[in-house]
Amino acid sequence: MPETELLSADAPGIARAAAILGDGGLVAFPTETVYGLGGDARSDLAVAGIFDAKGRPRFNPLIVHVPDADAARRYVAWSETADRLAGAFWPGALTLVLPLRADHGLSPLVTAELPTLAIRCPAHPVATALLRAADAPLAAPSANPSGRISPTTPDHVLAGLSGRIAAVLDGGACTVGLESTIVGLGHTPTLLRPGGLPAEAIEAALGHPLARRAANDTLTAPGQMASHYAPGARVRLNATEARPGELLLGFGAMECDLNLSPSGDLVEAAANLFGHLHALDARAPAGIAVAPVPMKGLGLAINDRLARAAAPR
Ligand code: TXA
Ligand code: MG
Repeated sequence: MPETELLSADAPGIARAAAILGDGGLVAFPTETVYGLGGDARSDLAVAGIFDAKGRPRFNPLIVHVPDADAARRYVAWSETADRLAGAFWPGALTLVLPLRADHGLSPLVTAELPTLAIRCPAHPVATALLRAADAPLAAPSANPSGRISPTTPDHVLAGLSGRIAAVLDGGACTVGLESTIVGLGHTPTLLRPGGLPAEAIEAALGHPLARRAANDTLTAPGQMASHYAPGARVRLNATEARPGELLLGFGAMECDLNLSPSGDLVEAAANLFGHLHALDARAPAGIAVAPVPMKGLGLAINDRLARAAAPR
């Protein structure tokens, strides 16, 4: 494949990205959560290309991105709960898992043959413009090699996938910095992956708690592998200081090499998490030690990603 094009997020750049997608090519694009690696979800060729470029296992299904809830209804059996949550949080960092419609018309590779589809309407204006210009549902996992740290800037995308994808649309740094929260809407709304929308907000909109996914439930959350988001360096959690050879990633007022949020703000910490991990890893330390992060609000998702980054590989 020729060199990956870096496209600016203006009208010509978006038109070029849409043309590449129309030919079955792959374009990484910004969302408010992380950069996604997009391809036409109706095209077997494009979807197979996404799995290939990422080195992603085929049993791990993709999220399909749409410009609004009306577009989502074309692919999934919509429900009252879906309506309530989409009404409250779309466009935004929430992915809903719903039963696939029989006439969905998507590549069967997208869902890894599950009877359900993960679907999301992103809030980033460049993502919206691209979805409208391409006039296609876009399958888009995070734009990183499978198992590695998710990308929150075009540079992160290029560092992992340069030469493997046609283009990157440059929308600057992602504001949320953590992937979307995934909620399964089967019999009981279930938190399948904590993410950029705090579970508490979803529970407030529902008026009741979310069920939690059972450990090792690989059927309803096939991609939740223990080891994920892994930098090259070993990661050690709940550290108060660096050991020899380690770099320290801090939280709150403390001495450290990089700080997720000196003031202890979880929103700021989420936005910095992947970028700081990329930056520390680029210094090739023996290890990365990470200070404790509280388990509330976005802290649930931050700790989830850190635990996977630290898991045995
Ligand atoms: O914020 C995000 O969600 C980003 C941006 C690009 O939208 N995307 C993202 O995609 O994080 P990815 O592929 O890295 O993570 C998607 C997760 C995987 O863990 C996958 O297993 C799960 O969604 N998933 C996809 N389809 C599913 C389904 N039908 N049922 C349960 N989980 C599903
Ligand atoms: Mg991912």
